Amino acid sequence: MLRTHTCGELSEKNNGADVTLSGWVHSRRDHGELVFVDLRDAYGITQIVFDPKESRELHAQAEKLRSEFVIQVAGTVRLRPKGTENTKIPTGLIEIAARKMVILNQALTPPFEIDDTQTVSEEARLKYRYIDLRRPVMQRNLRLRHRMNKIMRDFLDEKKFVEVETPILTKSTPEGARDYLVPSRLNAGYFFALPQSPQLFKQILMVSGLDRYYQIARCFRDEDLRADRQPEFTQLDIEMSFIDEEDVFALCEELLVMLFKDLKGITLKTPFPRLPYREAMARYGSDKPDTRIPIELKDISSIVKACNFNVFKQVIGSGGSVIGLTGRGCAGFSRSKIDELTKLVQSWGAKGLAYFILEDGKVNSPIQKFFTQDELAAITGAMGAVPGDIMFFVADRKEVIYPALNALRIELARINKLIDHDKVDLLWVVDFPLFKYNEEEKRWESEHHPFTSLKTDDIPLIEKGDLGNIRSKSYDLVINGMEIASGSIRIHSKELQEKIFKTIGISGEEAAVRFGFLLDAFRYGAPPHGGIALGLDRFITIFTKSESIRDVIAFPKTQKAVCPMTSAPSTVDEKQLKELHIRTIP
Ligand code: AMO
Ligand code: AMP
Repeated sequence: MLRTHTCGELSEKNNGADVTLSGWVHSRRDHGELVFVDLRDAYGITQIVFDPKESRELHAQAEKLRSEFVIQVAGTVRLRPKGTENTKIPTGLIEIAARKMVILNQALTPPFEIDDTQTVSEEARLKYRYIDLRRPVMQRNLRLRHRMNKIMRDFLDEKKFVEVETPILTKSTPEGARDYLVPSRLNAGYFFALPQSPQLFKQILMVSGLDRYYQIARCFRDEDLRADRQPEFTQLDIEMSFIDEEDVFALCEELLVMLFKDLKGITLKTPFPRLPYREAMARYGSDKPDTRIPIELKDISSIVKACNFNVFKQVIGSGGSVIGLTGRGCAGFSRSKIDELTKLVQSWGAKGLAYFILEDGKVNSPIQKFFTQDELAAITGAMGAVPGDIMFFVADRKEVIYPALNALRIELARINKLIDHDKVDLLWVVDFPLFKYNEEEKRWESEHHPFTSLKTDDIPLIEKGDLGNIRSKSYDLVINGMEIASGSIRIHSKELQEKIFKTIGISGEEAAVRFGFLLDAFRYGAPPHGGIALGLDRFITIFTKSESIRDVIAFPKTQKAVCPMTSAPSTVDEKQLKELHIRTIP
């Protein structure tokens, strides 16, 4: 045995015991005659003392120790002298008087300290990930992730769900991102796609009569990365037969209540609030609003439609709107701060940012001369603004206004520290539109994916061509402004499925080539079914209050989708390419 105890478990109860510990030299301090070593392993830190009076030779050996050497120490547990105890760590009342030490391995000087307070560049952290993962915060994140997976598995097992693995080498799936492709050596010119999700397979499993499926599934999407996105990420993927939306909500709420209780000690109230998509957009400008921010959008189009400010009048005249929000207590913002906010909304496509500063008894704005006193009073009343506030407005089409004001809302919350970071706001966003219009390609496409079912009442709208008003049976779960889960009740009738494909311009042949196997399966008795997928990486990011999704993944990719540790992706030799029937263009 290389150890009798771990570095995290000895206490005053073990006083006098002979023990052997193994671990890494966290730090070495020389205090006159004595050498102190903090020995670290996965479980904690224990102080070791090397005293020259005990053994000159051992003491000399201890002086050679450097950070991150791996050692084994045998010695006796004793109480630390009065006044030198460390009450911050569980082993802080004792130390080990070393009797024998073996250096199991030496270490190069690490590129950065194993310490949570260090600010190290992410590039360095990912290159030396094995060192980075030694930091306590990273160890905690990985352990929490493990526990979450276990709780989920136990919960679903209890509820009679079966975990089934679905293929990684497969065919393109319909989540709408770019595929990662894998060339087939045995079939020249043919490619597998890595799954963007197990979507089609889990539906097939319902046709197979499995009834309740889940998988902690890896998904691959070649998309532009952000703080909450990775090219490969993990979903808790769920599908059930003979259910409707309410069953999915109830199951997820029960699971989340349990996870928050167990992992965070937080008691969530059920049912979680539900917000129809249209209301989410109108009130927050986002389909994943952070409802912890106490700012809402207000549409003042009807008040300003006849005003003398041409920008507003023209926008409304051509079918647009004027929508704004109030920056509570922001009247002191400098001109340059307002210019910055204008640039922010412009980066989201708005043409400008109109504003009114409310001071005691007067309004201050470059455009106030275009408004009558009555109009100003009506605007202020509608906005619920009071002296000390600024009212901001964007005039445009709603598709432009919403993302712009959403960004402004979040920025104002950041500047004025409006978010209570101890609060957890969960909500279901429901009644998503089934289709969205792709302005660039001038065509309708699925908002979620083309297998999403729709509200029975809205089916006639397909024939009428009123596509924008069709509500789907899909839902997103949002926590603190992050989309955590998404799912839907699926279409199980071949006829309705074909109608949907036709509407979004997927021809019969194309559907047969891309999803033929699913459509074929549907002809052999498909049960009504539906499900959801929870983005686990995002979920743990919230649990651990991490800044980035990369802090909860052991070996993530950078924003440029590369791995600095392994240098993947990399070039391959000509022979490999030839076998795969591939030629690269320099
Ligand atoms: P969707 O595409 O919305 O749905 O994905 C479900 C959840 O997965 C997470 N997620 C991501 N997390 C990290 N990096 C990414 N690149 C990334 N993309 C998505 C999000 C998201 O809510 N098959 C459907 C689910 C269903 O209909 O059952 C699907 O994959 O948290
Ligand atoms: P202009 O007349 O273009 O100089 O604009 C006068 C003010 O109106 C400036 O503060 C602009 O930022 C603002 N503004 C211009 N276009 C818009 C718009 N579409 N929505 C809101 N404010 C705007």
